[in-house]
Amino acid sequence: MNEKVAALLNDQINKELYSAYLYLDIANFYTEKGLDGFANWYEIQAKEEQDHAMLFYQYMHNNDLKVTLEAIAKPDKTFETLADPLEVGLEHEKYVTSLINAIYAAAQEVNDFRTTQFLDWFVMEQGEEEKNASEMITKMELFGSDPRSLYMLNSELAARVYSAPSLVL
Ligand code: FEO
Repeated sequence: MNEKVAALLNDQINKELYSAYLYLDIANFYTEKGLDGFANWYEIQAKEEQDHAMLFYQYMHNNDLKVTLEAIAKPDKTFETLADPLEVGLEHEKYVTSLINAIYAAAQEVNDFRTTQFLDWFVMEQGEEEKNASEMITKMELFGSDPRSLYMLNSELAARVYSAPSLVL
């Protein structure tokens, strides 16, 4: 496989694990604030990011590529308001979309169709991730300032359950 594509795939393992760490930190913030539903939503989000990391890890091993695990950066975002983590989440997902697109472009440049096909799932997933993050912001804008509505929203988010990714390698 092309060296640049392999390096980007390897780096994405780290980026996805950082995403998991960032979302766990957001869950941590909401737990401290007593919003267990929001915390649940982001704990599940963190699990999904670990799944994403494992898909890149597995794809690399399936293609006999050497995986090198690097240090995971400390989550360094500070949250003041209940809405802050939601904005951070959306910005972060847009960043991850740009990373996936960059790997896709690099793979396409060298006619690595196996990798572009593998990444197709992530292209769709990023659309979903950005949509979810954006909807969270909208709901918070609509309901966040009223305690009773916030309680209902928290209950809604408490109902989210984890499910494994639909992509199996
Ligand atoms: Fe792994 Fe939230 O993208």
